Amino acid sequence: MVGLNTADDAGVYRLTEEIALILTVDFFTPIVNDPYLFGQIAAANALSDVYAMGGRPLTALNICCFPVKDMPREVFRDILRGGLDKVHQAGAVLAGGHSVEDPELKYGLSVTGVVHPERLVTNAGLQPGQVLVLTKPLGTGVIATALKAGLASAEAVAESVAMMTALNAPAAEVMAALGVTGATDITGFGLLGHAQEMAAASGLGLVIEARAVPILQQAREMAAMGLVPVGSHANRAYCEKSLILSGTAEPILLDLLSDAQTSGGMLMGLAPADVEPALAMLRERGVAGAVIGRSVAEHPGQVQVSF
Ligand code: CO
Ligand code: CO
Repeated sequence: MVGLNTADDAGVYRLTEEIALILTVDFFTPIVNDPYLFGQIAAANALSDVYAMGGRPLTALNICCFPVKDMPREVFRDILRGGLDKVHQAGAVLAGGHSVEDPELKYGLSVTGVVHPERLVTNAGLQPGQVLVLTKPLGTGVIATALKAGLASAEAVAESVAMMTALNAPAAEVMAALGVTGATDITGFGLLGHAQEMAAASGLGLVIEARAVPILQQAREMAAMGLVPVGSHANRAYCEKSLILSGTAEPILLDLLSDAQTSGGMLMGLAPADVEPALAMLRERGVAGAVIGRSVAEHPGQVQVSF
C-alpha cells in the first residue's frame, strides 16, 4: 500500500481486508550522554513512524552496533533497558534483535505495527483547506549541538529530552478518533523538509505561519548564537527551491524551522471543525498541540512560509 515513492514514514503491506502491516526501521548514534535516556529516545523515534501511519506498534527488534571492547557493559544494558521501557509503554513487545561490534555506537529498532487499511494515514493524504497542527516544539537538534559544544544548560537538555522521549501515541489516538488522513512525524529533514515532502506527496501547497511554530526557548537563544547543526543548514539549502517566503524573512527562524529533529512531533492535517476537539484531546493526554498553518490548492509541492 505504501512503498518508496512518496518518502513516507514507513512501508505498509495489506495482509487482509482488515489488517495492513506497517514496517519501519530507525537507528542512530547517541545524542545525549545518558545511555538509558538515549535508549528511550531511539525507541520513541522508531515507534513514531508507526504512529505517523495511524497505526499501533505490535513488535520491535533491537538493532545494536556496540563498541563492546571500549565501553563498560552497563552502558549497553542501560540503552537496551531504555528501549525496552518505551516498547512496553507503547504496548508492544520486544521480539528479539541483532547486534554487531562497531567502533561507533548506534542503537535503534525495527518496528512492526498494524492499521486498518481504510484508516491508514500517509503524507500523501492531506486535503486542501485543512489546518496543520504540530504536537511538539522544534529545537532538539540545536540543543543537541549546544550539548556537544558544552553550551546547553541542564534545564535545556532536560526539556529537550522530555520531548524526544515522549511517544507520539497521543497524536495517533487523536488522528484515529478524528479520521485524519494526512500526517507525518518531524525528524531528520526538519519541519520544512517534511512539510515539503507532504506538499509534494499530496499535490498541495502548505502555508506555514513562522511565528506560530512552537520552538524550545533555549533553542532560539542557541540558534541566535549560531549553534545550528550542519544537517539543518543542509535541510534549508535542500528546501530553498520549493520555499516561498512572504513578509520579512528572519534567517534564524528559518534555520529553526529547518532544524533536524530526533523523535519530533506529529504534523497532521485537520478539517477546520476538528481543530478545537483535536487540541482538547491532545491536552487531555498532556500534549500541547499548536496550529501552525494550512494546506491550500495553490502552489502544489511548495511550502510558503509567512513571517
Ligand atoms: Co518519520
Ligand atoms: Co523514520
